[in-house]
Amino acid sequence: EIVNWIKEYREKKAAISIGYLGNVVDLWERLAEEPECLVELGSDQTSLHNPFLGGFYPAGLTFEESNELMTSDPAKFKKLVQDSLIRQIAAIDKIAAKGMYFWDYGNAFLLECHRAGANLLREDAQDDKSFRYPSYMQDIMGDIFSMGFGPFRWVCTSGKPEDLRLTDQTACKIIDELKETNVPEYVKQQYLDNKKWIEEAEKNELVVGSQARILYSDRAGRVALAAAFNELVRTGKVSAPIVISRDHHDVSGTDSPFRETSNVYDGSAFTADMAVQNCIGDSFRGATWVALHNGGGVGWGDVINGGFGLVLDGSPDASRHAEGMLNWDVPNGVARRSWSGNAKAQEAIRRAEQQVDGMKVTIPVEADEELLKTLKF
Ligand SMILES: NC(=O)c1ccc[n+]([C@@H]2O[C@H](COP(=O)([O-])OP(=O)(O)OC[C@H]3O[C@@H](n4cnc5c(N)ncnc54)[C@H](O)[C@@H]3O)[C@@H](O)[C@H]2O)c1
Repeated sequence: EIVNWIKEYREKKAAISIGYLGNVVDLWERLAEEPECLVELGSDQTSLHNPFLGGFYPAGLTFEESNELMTSDPAKFKKLVQDSLIRQIAAIDKIAAKGMYFWDYGNAFLLECHRAGANLLREDAQDDKSFRYPSYMQDIMGDIFSMGFGPFRWVCTSGKPEDLRLTDQTACKIIDELKETNVPEYVKQQYLDNKKWIEEAEKNELVVGSQARILYSDRAGRVALAAAFNELVRTGKVSAPIVISRDHHDVSGTDSPFRETSNVYDGSAFTADMAVQNCIGDSFRGATWVALHNGGGVGWGDVINGGFGLVLDGSPDASRHAEGMLNWDVPNGVARRSWSGNAKAQEAIRRAEQQVDGMKVTIPVEADEELLKTLKF
């Protein structure tokens, strides 16, 4: 039925969204049987950060049978999950050979297929994460974290939509000012995207619970937003404190070689120090709370996350803490990305040094490749 729908709507040049209630391995295998490529863009969104305890359901078993087996016979269940993953990636390989563009969604799909025994490493792989298919990190997010942009968040503790509306309007004004500053064109483009996002945020009804907002912001933006929000609280324009925070999926807080730091290429992606430094640095600079934890996103043992929350209560201390802390929380990761040789991170950290009193970051000196070739080690 799905195959027919795809063909029919392709023929009509119309759009259709199809939800399949069943095991995705069966679907991939059926799609792979078709002589033509029916899937132009493909990815997988099962919860493979937790592959053997309910994140992935093997083909051939019902949902209930899987739930039973994963606790009654975990070894057998693990084998069935891994067999299914091998089948799934084999079907994906077949469709990709016909032209599908496939990428990893950041759910450890390629990693778990690799661990299951699929031959996924590139021929020139020097490590355990250079897979034949790209990660969304490189392909969709691009260099965003190197530029210092990431999902900054705030929550209006009053729970009032009118308070959130005022913070949205304040954010809009700040972005307007930022886009006129002396920044590279690719940074200006981010500010323009931010403006469109925040202008339309209320209309798009993104709030599902707390009166909270996420805005992909850089160091300068986050510092300015925090200062302006603290002022709204101090002057009583919003009726209760505002909490600032961010996602783990950000510039500095997470060491995750299979996701957030997969585009840090100097080997340091396999260490956990950036998240730890980030969290400790934030705590000393005035975060209200910090959290250092393992696992989120790609799975236990494969990632360390450092996070914070800071309450803006309108006091001078809150303002001072937010500025000091955010000037660590973002540049910490930009500096790391700069040391690993990323050109946009080098530009961003140099700009931060000029803008922030007392900030001094060592800049890497690139070796002359030709000279290196002449040296004997
Ligand atoms: N890239 C990112 O920014 C990003 C963001 C959020 C989540 N993630 C990752 O994406 C993954 C999914 O996140 P989520 O919040 O949607 O998880 P979720 O657990 O809510 O959804 C996963 C779904 O996959 C289904 N599923 C598992 N095996 C299946 C199979 N063989 N066939 C069909 N369906 C199957 C599950 O029943 C479940 O409904 C997680 O690993 C998460 O860490 C990535």
